[in-house]
Amino acid sequence: MTSTPVTLGIDLGTTGVKAVALDEGGRTVAQASRTYPLLTPYPGWTEQRPEDWVAAALDALKDLAQQLRDARALPLALGLSGQMHGAVFLGAGGEVLRPALLWNDQRTGKQVQAIEVRIPRTDLIARTGNRAVTGFQLPKVLWLRDEEPEVFARLAHVLLPKDYLGFVLTGEMRTEPSDASGVGALNLACKAWDREVLQALELSPRLFPEVVNSWDVVGRLKAELSAYTELPAGLPVVAGGGDNAAAGIALGLTSDRPRVGSVSLGTSGVLFAPLAQPTPDPQGRVHLFAHADGGYNLLGVTLACAGALQWLHDKLAPDTSFDLLLSEAAKVPDGAQGVTFLPYLAGERSPHMNPELRGAWTGLALAHGRGHLTRALLEGTALALADTYEVMRPLSSVNTFLATGGGARSDFWLGLVAGALDVQVERSTHEPGAADGAALLAMPSAGIYRDLAEVMQALRPAGTPVRPLEITKAREQHSSTFARLYGAVQPEPQLGTAPVQADVRA
Ligand code: XUL
Repeated sequence: MTSTPVTLGIDLGTTGVKAVALDEGGRTVAQASRTYPLLTPYPGWTEQRPEDWVAAALDALKDLAQQLRDARALPLALGLSGQMHGAVFLGAGGEVLRPALLWNDQRTGKQVQAIEVRIPRTDLIARTGNRAVTGFQLPKVLWLRDEEPEVFARLAHVLLPKDYLGFVLTGEMRTEPSDASGVGALNLACKAWDREVLQALELSPRLFPEVVNSWDVVGRLKAELSAYTELPAGLPVVAGGGDNAAAGIALGLTSDRPRVGSVSLGTSGVLFAPLAQPTPDPQGRVHLFAHADGGYNLLGVTLACAGALQWLHDKLAPDTSFDLLLSEAAKVPDGAQGVTFLPYLAGERSPHMNPELRGAWTGLALAHGRGHLTRALLEGTALALADTYEVMRPLSSVNTFLATGGGARSDFWLGLVAGALDVQVERSTHEPGAADGAALLAMPSAGIYRDLAEVMQALRPAGTPVRPLEITKAREQHSSTFARLYGAVQPEPQLGTAPVQADVRA
């Protein structure tokens, strides 16, 4: 009996690692996951031990290999994906020097300011697609130099999380554009490290790995790890993509089809819009990254989405089901009878880029109940996504967003999001994630498809339209409350008026 050819994909997430095996029809043949701890040594700091990632990933791969043997499937290649922006600090022998700093770590405020002093914001955006952001890898390297000089003195390499896993699996240090563009020092036009940016910060380009295509093979599985996991010796390991880009690949989002993007209602809310050309927001209010298909994408991240509902549930209604909370909210009219929720429980990325912002319920009266609080919270998260989309709209040609993420399972919440975005939102027929995208990125090198375009053409999920709900009153309240509270308390320095379609400079 012949075995089924499959490719493997692995996603190194923040709560755990997920590994999948897909056949040529994109069907899941096996999957395994493992968790690891998140370390928060001080408020605003988030770290993980790279050793924990490796142990969990090898364990998940071993589990996957066992399932594949039982299913008579033959793994041909493994693609990588993972949480973006993290910094894994390595010595000259590839040894881990300290726990990795993660994408949601907020300790680098001082270093972000230092970057903007050395490189004017408009110049940094024109070169890298982004302003300096606390979560990105670049300020983390400067933090290490400022705060742990004895560790920095031993620093020989800085890798992103999935690229560190690739190094452990193969012995080769490489990265690819979709994740590298989240470092903060990749020149987007030529997809190479921007030497002038690094020079201005007195950092050696040698710290950063070579950038290859997302679908390129970076190396082969080491013999001892093949023996441990029981995966084939010499299995090709493919560069892959940052988690958002890989998830975009799995949803069929490509730069040559820029009318279809995605909206994800996860812990954070994410809007993904593929682009053929790198056109940044001149104020850097949304991110511009390289997409894993060779093109580009805008990414808007609102930090409180399903995480905000989880917070309401945990703090105010731990014994109530999410279904009940959502159905109470659905009985309350548009605008929650005057209650407004500003959802900035964890500061905000897009479009405000302000880690100091905070949340608020306003307009409360004795007549209001829990349903009003929940409705206002859901409206607030939907309108935060709409604020982000307003910045993306003139830069992108998206006319349909495919919805994913836990929150999108609620017709009501997704209806509010569709109403707030005021553009077609579709529910995807299946919900592939970043691990699936990584497996798809490995298919060309496995010889299953000719190239990535062919993979995506064949395996793109379809969507069914979502009925938008009325959110006009909530929108008016959101704007006026935001203007009153944010404008008064947190004025943000405004940049000069730059042209909307600033070109990325080489
Ligand atoms: C994207 C971002 C997050 C991480 C989390 O800019 O910070 O989506 O990639 O996994």
